[in-house]
Amino acid sequence: MRKFVSIAAALMLLATLVTLATSCTVPSGGGGGGALIGVAMPTKSLQRWNQDGDHMKTKLEAAGYKVDLQYAADSVETQVSQIENMITKGAKVLVIASIDGESLKGVLEDAAKEGIKVIAYDRLIRGTEHVDYYATFDNYKVGELQGKYIVEALGLDKGEKGPFTLEVFGGSPDDNNAYFFNAGAMDTLRPYIDSGALVIKSGQVDMEQIAIPGWKSEGSQARMDNLLTAYYSDENIDVVLSPNDSLAAGIVASLKAAGYGSADKPFPILTGQDCDVTNVKHLIAGEQSMSVFKDTRTLAAKVVGMVDAIMKGTEPEINDTKTYDNGIKVVPSYLCEPVFADANNYKELLIDSGYYTEDQLK
Ligand code: BGC
Repeated sequence: MRKFVSIAAALMLLATLVTLATSCTVPSGGGGGGALIGVAMPTKSLQRWNQDGDHMKTKLEAAGYKVDLQYAADSVETQVSQIENMITKGAKVLVIASIDGESLKGVLEDAAKEGIKVIAYDRLIRGTEHVDYYATFDNYKVGELQGKYIVEALGLDKGEKGPFTLEVFGGSPDDNNAYFFNAGAMDTLRPYIDSGALVIKSGQVDMEQIAIPGWKSEGSQARMDNLLTAYYSDENIDVVLSPNDSLAAGIVASLKAAGYGSADKPFPILTGQDCDVTNVKHLIAGEQSMSVFKDTRTLAAKVVGMVDAIMKGTEPEINDTKTYDNGIKVVPSYLCEPVFADANNYKELLIDSGYYTEDQLK
């Protein structure tokens, strides 16, 4: 009998603990009611996606949702099976930063059958009608900021004729964003390429020639090595257009190995995007000229707002209904503002805003 009483007491204690634990994960202020939201991120290997995932999880939980956050190590098959799993577990909304924008058709077919809504996060999901909303930064503008920086740094807009040598890098060919970054930058630079003020000695400008699969630093480093050997053995390179920071990091490594960073071989103008910690250090050291800051806190907050609206049966806030055609339909989008960053304004942008601590950048 005594044993029975103590088992009953233990069970009651367990029930109390479970109730307490549940009330902790579903804060009283949140309206999410504990509904499950699946968040599929591409990889942990790039800094930004870790931040995106963390912000999404924290903000969704604060709004009262349960979160299944998964990273797919840049493997399309892994991402597809993670999403299948989220569907099986009963997710109500899927938030997906795709690895290959074209490869989610089948799994999103399954999500649609269950009535699950889908938000494409940062990268457009292509080739399917089963994507309801898209939240990103203005990707064309990211490229424009990079192009304008080059134009102004060289004084091309003030009549400087050069000629200056330039090489152009492209992002991952399976990422829709890569084409927008490229278009924004090249539309800005083209008049100066056409006039001869900027000279691309390799002649390589098509995405097939300049794209770096998987946004890999090793890939951009290897291509930069090849370019330097083939075209710049007797002349310095003046400008490198890099669409993001992971590629810029590989380019810096290649330049250093080739002896850049000295008085007769100064670092070329080099662009980037994301303000990754490594690259902000490069900005401070004068090895990379600029980056584009995309505050992942803002994007995550927007997407949580979208999830909330969907769950309440209202319309999520969107500010663009024209730009992002995924091949089947134009996906209603919210575009956040990307911001120019360099060695002069990084403190205000990144430290004062609490994005990084000063110690992280040492
Ligand atoms: C993102 C960039 C990022 C790149 C590599 C793009 O889709 O918009 O911010 O640098 O992927 O992860």
